[in-house]
Amino acid sequence: MISDDTIILPLDGNTPDLLLRHCYEGIIVYGATGSGKTSGSGAALARGFLEAGLGGLVLCAKPDEAERWQHYAGLTGREKDIVLFSGSRFNFLRYEQARSNSKGGGITENIVHVFYEAMQAFSRGQSRGSSDPYWENAARTLLRNSIDLILLAGEELTLTRICEVIYDTPQRGEEEEQEGEALHPYEYRKLFDKALNRDGLTKRQHSDLEICLRFFEKDFGKLSEKTKGSIISSFTSLADGLMRGLMADLLGTSTKLVPELSRQGKIIILDLDIMTYGELGKAVSVIFKTIWQKAMERFPGNPVFLFADESHFFQTQYDALFQSTCRGFKICTCYLSQNKPGYLLELKDEHRIAALMGNLRNKFFHANDCPITNQWAASLIGKEWQTRTSAGGSKGSTVDQQSSNWSSQMQRDFRIQPEEFLSLKTGGADFGNETEAIFFRSPHYVKLVFDQWPTLEKGR
Ligand SMILES: Nc1ncnc2c1ncn2[C@@H]1O[C@H](COP(=O)(O)OP(=O)(O)OP(=O)(O)O)[C@@H](O)[C@H]1O
Ligand SMILES: [Mg+2]
Repeated sequence: MISDDTIILPLDGNTPDLLLRHCYEGIIVYGATGSGKTSGSGAALARGFLEAGLGGLVLCAKPDEAERWQHYAGLTGREKDIVLFSGSRFNFLRYEQARSNSKGGGITENIVHVFYEAMQAFSRGQSRGSSDPYWENAARTLLRNSIDLILLAGEELTLTRICEVIYDTPQRGEEEEQEGEALHPYEYRKLFDKALNRDGLTKRQHSDLEICLRFFEKDFGKLSEKTKGSIISSFTSLADGLMRGLMADLLGTSTKLVPELSRQGKIIILDLDIMTYGELGKAVSVIFKTIWQKAMERFPGNPVFLFADESHFFQTQYDALFQSTCRGFKICTCYLSQNKPGYLLELKDEHRIAALMGNLRNKFFHANDCPITNQWAASLIGKEWQTRTSAGGSKGSTVDQQSSNWSSQMQRDFRIQPEEFLSLKTGGADFGNETEAIFFRSPHYVKLVFDQWPTLEKGR
């Protein structure tokens, strides 16, 4: 049993230490590149979680992240608790289907949600740039109807099957369509007929079937060919990558690893880093992260952590909402990133980011050149009454004729000036292997110094 009062990070003696129960309220670490996030506060927090015996999930943006965590695990005696995602199997569709059956429904919406988050993360990195909500919403509806039909027909849900239904939809004009349908019944139609012939379909399921048929024949069927093509490709460009090579092995075969392992003290490292596996690695990370978040909310138990360096890459729409439930479920979210605009670039929703940041109550600010982040940090830490002294005087030709008067007045000013974030120590030999950060947890703030904890950095 891990106590909520376990110290995760001892502070300076005057400020209350960062306890496990504080970490349930979320952590965000900001700092410019090379400011000492990873090797300073990031490493210290990782050590705190590992030494406290927590299980968790680690997302990897950079290739050395997995190795670094294995190294940390070695230093804290936790090697046996490490589970590498790339060495495992997680058939997420089968996992979702099995658990929804046991809990009675909800499967379609859960899977659509997981795909939606992954599609957004995937499309952010594609050449088409910003994700267009129209295509994504339309793709979501297409996906919902395809999944429903497969399930109503009593078939196993696989990515290949979903793609077969989606690809084999009416693409021609109305007359050709009827002709085509006579020659070759579309997949959705075959599934519809199969479902109709099943025994024991409830009234609700019959009505769902009608909705699916109407969608394929009326709503989707009537769209222009070009529009249909764009909607289909919003989904299939991601699905195509998931059905090949390593990703197909990892996500489409068996299941050896489940998110619930984190509650049993295992540290799952999602070692499909973005530099090596590109957008697909990011999309798979988002798929697993989303399912993990939901699983942690379903299975309360031992405290767990979610750690993401370069966290902006893995942000999803759900994160702000998830963060608001973390305290109740004993989940310590720990996100590292360079600056606030980086989050905006990925998530494109200022309100959502504000909600998320508001719910990440423990904030570490390392050296930063970003005026937006520095100004924000200074205004969060707040103002206080301060005495300002100024000199005034009149000129004369002799010393006696010169008079000067000093006046002091009280004014409200930042406790930490935005410029102070420019001069914090950033580690490495130049700074005696020390990095500094301002820690803020309302109402406390304190400057912290971190000895760079042994990482894999060469030439230390
Ligand atoms: N264990 C270590 N010992 C000494 N110096 C280190 C160690 N790890 C990193 N450094 C150096 O300290 C500085 C800060 O590195 P760190 O990787 O922590 O920065 P960062 O804020 O995570 O940067 P980025 O945003 O690019 O990931 C760099 O100059 C780096 O070379
Ligand atoms: Mg880093």
